[in-house]
Amino acid sequence: MGCKVLWLNVALLAYLMICEHVRAQCTQPSFPSRNVIVSDSHLSTQSFPDGSNVTFECEIGYKPENSRASKSVTCVRNLWTSLELNCTKKSCGSPPEFDNGRYEREGGKGLFGDKITAVCNPGYMLDGMIKDRVCRDQGWDGRDPVCEVVKCTAPPAIVNGQLEEEPLDSYEYSQVVTYKCNGGLSLIGSPTLHCSENGTFQPDPPKCMDGCPKPEIPHAIRIGGKSPPYKLNNFIDYRCDDAYTMKGEYHIVCKENGWNPEPPKCIGPCSRPDLGGNVILTKEFRTQNSFPYKSNVTFECDRGYEPVNSTVSKSVTCEENHWTKLLLTCKDHSSGDRSSSSRNTVVAWIITLSVLAVLGLIKGFH
Ligand SMILES: *[C@@H]1O[C@H](CO)[C@@H](O)[C@H](O)[C@H]1NC(C)=O
Ligand SMILES: *[C@@H]1O[C@H](CO)[C@@H](O)[C@H](O)[C@H]1NC(C)=O
Ligand SMILES: *[C@@H]1O[C@H](CO)[C@@H](O)[C@H](O)[C@H]1NC(C)=O
Ligand SMILES: *[C@@H]1O[C@H](CO)[C@@H](O)[C@H](O)[C@H]1NC(C)=O
Ligand SMILES: *[C@@H]1O[C@H](CO)[C@@H](O)[C@H](O)[C@H]1NC(C)=O
Repeated sequence: MGCKVLWLNVALLAYLMICEHVRAQCTQPSFPSRNVIVSDSHLSTQSFPDGSNVTFECEIGYKPENSRASKSVTCVRNLWTSLELNCTKKSCGSPPEFDNGRYEREGGKGLFGDKITAVCNPGYMLDGMIKDRVCRDQGWDGRDPVCEVVKCTAPPAIVNGQLEEEPLDSYEYSQVVTYKCNGGLSLIGSPTLHCSENGTFQPDPPKCMDGCPKPEIPHAIRIGGKSPPYKLNNFIDYRCDDAYTMKGEYHIVCKENGWNPEPPKCIGPCSRPDLGGNVILTKEFRTQNSFPYKSNVTFECDRGYEPVNSTVSKSVTCEENHWTKLLLTCKDHSSGDRSSSSRNTVVAWIITLSVLAVLGLIKGFH
């Protein structure tokens, strides 16, 4: 009898356990494209028992399309009932108008995430740097723009010239000023500037051209063009003293920004490179004592030596008064593999000579 009750209890327990396991459940509900999120209290719940309710709300920046729509769904067996709530972007509406300017919209209708840009009317400029406003959850961000009337401060002073009129402290939008150059100097650029939209004079002020300075080029001789002073478009031609070589162009012209191209240089020669040791100049260069700029000389290994690496360059170039670095290095001819073979040759000769000497002696006895 006791045994029977026990068996019944075990069977009941097993039944309950299986039932518990099989009992319907729902997983986290989701309704894409409705712009909704599960309300906070259920955010981390992974499974929901049959009959449980989950409440939704609109994502940030969204509002219910229909305010009477139900916000919750119920788990029935293992499926969620359908959600009525559907959310659409909030509208920030039109921002208040402001004086002497307007907003430019980039397509949008003033909905959440849309951007508008404040633009002032010509002759006015924005007070402050930020001109963009974005529609946020709580409305337009930033503050209402203020367009102030453009004023320019006194235009810049220039070297060797001045304004035709007495300068003022402040100028109105589009007001014009005119520059002139002192004593017959040429004016480069536009003589007139106007007070522009951003409160600066435009374009850049002109320059008064006082000619180009006399070039100082050691070892150069002027062979064409005039003597100083040099005015706009004057030119000079140069050549270098004997033994000096020109670097740059021989013909230069005085332009607005100075000599064009830059005046050349006359570069002196290099003296004979003497590295000493086991590296020597090749024969054709040995008698020469001076080598012009950019010329090359070649080296070789002295008698009894050979290159450590036969592929490296054996020549150097005369740069401005110095030689480039020589890569060639030499080593003793008798070191390495060759030494044993030459030693063998010497031994062979000694033996040959000895044999001949002995033969000669024998012949001499006869
Ligand atoms: C779930 O919501 C329904 C109707 O919205 C309600 O009848 C039921 O009592 C709620 N269930 C729970 C567990 O709150
Ligand atoms: C929810 O609203 C959006 C935009 O208002 C609409 O395109 C979509 O069809 C709506 N979804 C449902 C299920 O009503
Ligand atoms: C003012 O506008 C001109 C072009 O009209 C521009 O070159 C200049 O950089 C601007 N200056 C400032 C300070 O914004
Ligand atoms: C000198 O050597 C350099 C490189 O080895 C070469 O480019 C140049 O043309 C040579 N100059 C002359 C004058 O032979
Ligand atoms: C020899 O010189 C060449 C080029 O300068 C280099 O690539 C090579 O590695 C050198 N060979 C040896 C054995 O050093």
